[in-house]
This record gives sequence, structure tokens and C-alpha cells, in this order.
Amino acid sequence: MDKLAIIGGRPLYGDIEISGAKNSALKLMAAALLSDKPLALSNVPRLADVDMLLRLLEALGVETKRNGTDLTLDARTITSTLAPYDLVRKMRASFNVLGPLLAREHQAKVSLPGGCAIGARPVDLHLKSLEAMGAVIELDEGYVIASAPRGLSGARIAFPFVSVGATEHAMMAGVLAKGDTVLINAALEPEIVDLADCLRAMGAKIEGDGGPEIRITGVSSLNGADYAVMPDRIETGAYALAAGAAGGEVFLRGARLDLIGAAVGALEAAGIQLTARDGGIVAARPAERCVGVDIVTDPFPGFPTDLQAQFMAVMTTAQGVSTIRETIFENRFMHAPELARMGAKISVNGQVAMVTGVPRLKGAPVMATDLRASMGLVIAALGAEGQTMVNRVYHLDRGFERLEEKLVRCGALIERVKGE
Ligand code: EPZ
Repeated sequence: MDKLAIIGGRPLYGDIEISGAKNSALKLMAAALLSDKPLALSNVPRLADVDMLLRLLEALGVETKRNGTDLTLDARTITSTLAPYDLVRKMRASFNVLGPLLAREHQAKVSLPGGCAIGARPVDLHLKSLEAMGAVIELDEGYVIASAPRGLSGARIAFPFVSVGATEHAMMAGVLAKGDTVLINAALEPEIVDLADCLRAMGAKIEGDGGPEIRITGVSSLNGADYAVMPDRIETGAYALAAGAAGGEVFLRGARLDLIGAAVGALEAAGIQLTARDGGIVAARPAERCVGVDIVTDPFPGFPTDLQAQFMAVMTTAQGVSTIRETIFENRFMHAPELARMGAKISVNGQVAMVTGVPRLKGAPVMATDLRASMGLVIAALGAEGQTMVNRVYHLDRGFERLEEKLVRCGALIERVKGE
């Protein structure tokens, strides 16, 4: 397995191109199943998760053509409605093919995704939404077996709490359902708006996305479209935080401030200046150290859980104490003991971590169990004294495109050590 060797202590200066959003691209790719006309996506990040979903779509009969960040998906004929365990187990977002298959083919058999390192992550809200639209769902040997012989019908679906995946799933199913669907307490995340924009480009009738009530009027079929994936807001926040840990000034090309919600206020309060400029954002840490800031993760526009680990990494060397409360996932502090190996002072009590800033971390061998936690360790390493060896780089390859290349161009000393 590959590792990253990082020698910290060098400030970052330069340009970082922000890639297309992983968590948007994966849903747009699933949406291609809704139409028998080609969906041409651009700005698709080159990531292991995208490769994995492509493999699944190909297994369902989708013809795929890829050229750099351009990806054309042609679902003219769906040859299978089975999403097998092996392909769903490795990546939860694969589960989102269930709704589109059901909407278009009126049947699907999709493996349950199971738990993952950051929490149990059930899919009950996804299934209840599809049932409300008339699907008959059975669970058998780890698979969801769903059918809707007469197609799906519009429904009024009130989510008991906000779920990004369930909102996206219900929206994709609703666009081809008969009649009107109303989603109440829908997620507000920018990825929802990106998906709605793409579906509208394909001819879907959707209103209210970006707000808590989404109204969909079903149509009988969708067209193809050309659509550019929005910039990745988590990658944006992560590189701004990298500048916070290492110091310096980076231009995040293609990034948008409006996509990062409450993170803007938290980063600025910590001493990371964010300025919108000519098609991007300048992120800089003018002072010697950041300062401790308390954050609570929340659905958008709150502070994103996907930036929590990276923010904690910066807080480890900030002046003063900060508390970090994680409210979205029940087990998302696994980076804390790894940061402690580098000299961080963190005490975790349930869903709250208290971080007492120290002047400097020291490099150490570390390992992370999920994507964003791994990025937190990279950020900590960039500001630390000496060498950090980050193990299990495959997590990073799932979600951060050309990570080393982007950081090296800004002066970081970072090298991939090939594993056997
Ligand atoms: C998406 O996951 C993202 N993944 C996650 O990013 C992100 O952390 C999360 O949204 C929150 O912003 C993708 O888009 C592929 P949820 P999702 O449904 O949709 C519970 C990353 O690192 N829940 O909003 O799965 C759930 O367990 C990943 O890129 C149910 O109980 O998140 C969680 O506690 C990690 N039942 C909460 O809701 C359900 O049916 C919010 O989850 C669905 C969710």
C-alpha cells in the first residue's frame, strides 16, 4: 500500500486548481441511468470513487467514454438491474443507483451498503421515500429487492431529519414518477442544487432546491444534457486549512465562497483570511499562528462534517482551546489519537473533542481510517516539524485529485512512497 512522506514546516505559496466535487459527480453519474440519451459531464474529478461507480454503471449496461475530466454516459439500454455487493460495499454512493433503476426499469436489486468507519449510516430514509412512491421493498440476504410494476407515483415525503443522500435519492426517483412529489425538510447542500440543475438540463421539473421544500412534477422521460460538475467545496476548505496549518497564501482556482457556508466564518475567526478574487479564492494565514475557535458540525449551511478532521488538525497548533462538536456521524474522531501521536493535546468525550493548541506538532508515522481524516493528517503534517509518514493513502485517492502534485506546486515537501 502506498504511503505519503511529508516534511513539514514550509509555508505554501501558489495556485491550486479546485477539482469537480466528488459528492456531486457521483450522484450526477447515477442520474445518467434516468435517461436513454447520453449525459455528457465535464469537470468530473479523476478519483478512485468515480472509477468504482463507472464499473458499476458499466455492469448495468451503461456505455462510458472518458477523456480527462470529460465523461459521457450513455444508458440507452439497461442490461441489468443488479448492483452487486462487491461494488456497493466499497462505496456507499453506489447505493444511489437504486432509485434511478426503479424509476426507469421499475425494478432493482441493490446490495445494502452496510456500516462504515465513521458510523452506522443506515439507509432507512432512502427506502421509506421509495416506498412512499409506491415501491414494494423486501430485504433478502443483504440485498434490497425493489419493484414498482406500474411505475413510481409522486408522494409527499417529510424527512424526520436532514439527509443528503435520501434527498438526492427521492429527487432522482421523483423526476420520473407519475404526478407531483414534495420533499419536506430536504437537505440544503450545494450538491442537491447541482443535481437539480443537471436534472433540469435533462428536462426534469424541479423547484425549491436549495430550500427545505423541493417540489417535483414527474415527466415521462428525460433527455440527454451537457453539464459541468460544480467545484468541490470540501477540497476548497481543505486547502484553505492547509494554508492555515503551514502558513503562506494560496489561490484556490475555481473555488466559490458561497459553497462553503459556515466554514467561511469559522476559518476567518481562526485567522485564515478568505478573499474572493478573479474566479477563485485567496486563502492566507498572515499571523504566526491560528487561534482556537469552537465549531459544531451541522447540515449545510452549518459547518460541514467533511471538514471537521481538517479543522481539528489546524486547531492542534492554534493559540488557546477549541471545542469541536460532531453532530452528523457518531464515530468521526478517529483522527484524534493519530494527531496525538504527533504531539497534539486532544481529549474526546462522546461527540465533543477539546483541543488545546500547542506551538508545534512533530512528525510521526500515522494512519487514518477514512478519507477526510487522512486529509486532516496531511494538513497536520504540513505544519509539523520533521517527517510524517501517512499510511493508507488509498483513502486520499478516493477523494482528493492529484493531491501531491497540487501541494508540491505550492512548495510542500511531499512524496508518494510506493507500496508493494
Ligand atoms: C453525504 O453522505 C456525503 N457522501 C458525506 O461525505 C457527508 O459527510 C454527508 O453527506 C453529510 O454531509 C456523499 O455524498 C457520497 P446523510 P450521506 O444521509 O448522504 C443518517 C465524504 O467523506 N441517516 O446526510 O450518506 C446518517 O447515518 C462523505 O465524502 C440515517 O439515519 O449523509 C447520518 O448520521 C462521508 N438514515 C445522517 O443521517 C438514512 O436513511 C446524515 O447522513 C440516511 C442517513
